[in-house]
Amino acid sequence: MEVRSFVETDRAELRELFGRVGEGSPTASLWGHLDSEAAIYLIPYMDLVPESLFVATVDGALVGYLTGCPDSSAFPSETERMTRAIKEYKLALRPRTSAFFGRAMLDSVSALLRREPTAKDFDDDRWPAHLHINAAPEARGTGAADALMNRWLERLTRSGSPGCHLQTLVENTRAVRFFERMGFTPYGPTPLVPGLRYNGKRLRQQTMVWDAPR
Ligand SMILES: CC(C)(COP(=O)(O)OP(=O)(O)OC[C@H]1O[C@@H](n2cnc3c(N)ncnc32)[C@H](O)[C@@H]1OP(=O)(O)O)[C@@H](O)C(=O)NCCC(=O)NCCS
Repeated sequence: MEVRSFVETDRAELRELFGRVGEGSPTASLWGHLDSEAAIYLIPYMDLVPESLFVATVDGALVGYLTGCPDSSAFPSETERMTRAIKEYKLALRPRTSAFFGRAMLDSVSALLRREPTAKDFDDDRWPAHLHINAAPEARGTGAADALMNRWLERLTRSGSPGCHLQTLVENTRAVRFFERMGFTPYGPTPLVPGLRYNGKRLRQQTMVWDAPR
């Protein structure tokens, strides 16, 4: 297994890997439309911060990746990327994806009535960097994710970044345990993510933060 920086010729293979890295986890799919999900969680990182993208390979084939962003304030927010993708792919009008948006609207209204907060973007100068990490099923538990994360955290430490945040799901227990093992700690409330379900259950956002060593 090797971890290296992303190069432009990885683009097609990485997009293909994106389609299967969530398998078996609560993050497997947002609304069941991969092109629009890639437009939020992968393509902007390849386009705007390719130097912060790392891939793990086995015998030359991609098996995992980490999309990093050193300064989240200089990057389109998740809400902006999501809004753009919803418009571009007309997701609210497609029969398969419109169910998600209907459910999301109902969840939001019912949370509002119960005065419960819902998931939102994170913005805090103490942890300006952020990341997304995914390993294909065959690469989990092999050290590939550890190596990707170590590479990114070393980069942040060397560059003088004060810290990094990430957002996952409370119900993604394997991921939360992994992030804790890598030095991240849960931070803030765990609001409902409107529309999202896993095994029929509602899901909650978990923000986690990492302080660079001083
Ligand atoms: C979350 C994710 C990146 C974590 O990676 P992972 O490899 O599964 O990490 P884990 O901590 O569960 O497993 C690592 C295991 O490999 C072991 N390991 C670490 N380095 C190793 C090495 N060099 N060789 C062999 N095993 C190693 C660890 O000790 C750990 O074992 P343990 O669970 O018995 O302690 C991965 O599970 C994944 O991509 N899941 C699906 C998508 C997802 O949820 N992404 C996160 C969205 S926020």
